[in-house]
Amino acid sequence: MMSMAFSFAIDIYGCQMNQYDGDRLRTSLIRRGWIETDRNEADAVVIVTCSIREKAEQKVLSEIGRYGKLYKTKGKPLLAVIGCMAQNMGADLLRRFPQVKVVAGPRHIGWVPDALENAMRHKTVLYLDEDPREMIDLHDAPMIRSNPYKAFVTIAHGCDNFCTYCIVPYVRGRFVSRRPGEILKEVSELVDDGVLEVTLLGQNVDSYGKDLKESYRFSNLLQDVAKVPGLLRVRFTTSHPRDFTEDVIEAMAEESKICPAVNLPIQSGSDRILKKMNRGYTVEDYGRIIKRLREALPEVSITSDLIVGFPGETEEDFQCTLEMLKTMEFDLVHTASYSPREGTPAANMSNQIPEEEKKRRLSIVNELQDAISFKKNKILEGKFFEVLLDDFAPKGKGMLQGRTPTDKVVLVPGDESMLGKLCEVRITGASNWYLYGEIVSFRDFSDVLEVRI
Ligand code: SAH
Ligand code: SF4
Ligand code: F3S
Repeated sequence: MMSMAFSFAIDIYGCQMNQYDGDRLRTSLIRRGWIETDRNEADAVVIVTCSIREKAEQKVLSEIGRYGKLYKTKGKPLLAVIGCMAQNMGADLLRRFPQVKVVAGPRHIGWVPDALENAMRHKTVLYLDEDPREMIDLHDAPMIRSNPYKAFVTIAHGCDNFCTYCIVPYVRGRFVSRRPGEILKEVSELVDDGVLEVTLLGQNVDSYGKDLKESYRFSNLLQDVAKVPGLLRVRFTTSHPRDFTEDVIEAMAEESKICPAVNLPIQSGSDRILKKMNRGYTVEDYGRIIKRLREALPEVSITSDLIVGFPGETEEDFQCTLEMLKTMEFDLVHTASYSPREGTPAANMSNQIPEEEKKRRLSIVNELQDAISFKKNKILEGKFFEVLLDDFAPKGKGMLQGRTPTDKVVLVPGDESMLGKLCEVRITGASNWYLYGEIVSFRDFSDVLEVRI
């Protein structure tokens, strides 16, 4: 049967897992003959959504509303709302918005291409994840990616930690590791397609493998991925302070392809709050891990996540957080003010902090951390790093961006022909978010003989 070519666009919100899902979906649709086009021209727009904070949901709701006006006048695009917020809001989305024709939770991504084709034939589809373990996955590697040189690979779905503020375990379901063979096969396919750097994704990568029959841990996976011929760099995120283990540090120390960068969310500097968050460690436990990391990997960069204004956070707790930031000296911290998520334990806790106060605390931590990040970056001026040039810089003509092994973004003067190249960069300047540099030389791999058996 001849099928008509439909056109689509994908809008991605939320975390890197969504970027991975979005790229896989794009690949799958294009393989079925769909054509990617501008979002205002498309027959269908897929919105990959996030529920982590209220703001993330509001942004998507207003986008859905905007498409609604187009839909009314032009009869398109129809919308497929997928991912965490789709799971969270479910049938409500269909009821509220006539332009929404597909709603699918994160564990139904494998059925989204069919659902879209049904929607084009005027069928509305609702797939919510009822069994938190079942996973109807897409079996396409993200071959048609937003970036040709780097790719994400999800190594485990879901999360079992139930931090009291967090919606992820409710919308993404239980922690289920993907099989090592499947992950390695996908990484090889990506490398054959030109990928030089992969980032392994999971809500808690350190518990990778705990649910597998064989004894195969995250450190084993890291080592095996690093051995994939042709791959230059392996990154991973996110680590959990309760589950981070010595064997991961050893793997990083032994294998230079595993980048010396760790995102280890601390969330609060007060033990009392950490307990109420159900995080399972104290500030002291946390401090021991980063001490050990810095001993074993002197150049390591450590980033963290932090929430201010958790219910019951007193001025004293907040001061502990400020002290903690000064002691830990993180390279970068993703900060957020606490957003109550319906259905999570923290949303019902007493002593919710007023918005104004949360805002005040957020701006204080940001100011403090910006100064620390700036100081840490400033020290790097004059130093040399190996940088993989992977994209155009967000602003500034004739500028490219890349990352150091320690995951710092470096902006350098350069042109398109240099994209995808590994080069030696001298750092010439620093801000709290970026390093600035100049290319000293290019790394040449043409003399590297690769033997594939
Ligand atoms: N699994 C990872 C990342 C989870 S989501 C981890 O354990 O850290 C990314 C970040 O969003 C979290 O680290 C947390 O800092 C933030 N976050 C999660 N729920 C939140 C909420 N209700 N309000 C504000 N920030 C939140
Ligand atoms: Fe959320 Fe905690 Fe799981 Fe991270 S570890 S996704 S913060 S429940
Ligand atoms: Fe958001 Fe879901 Fe990721 S809630 S942060 S898209 S796991």
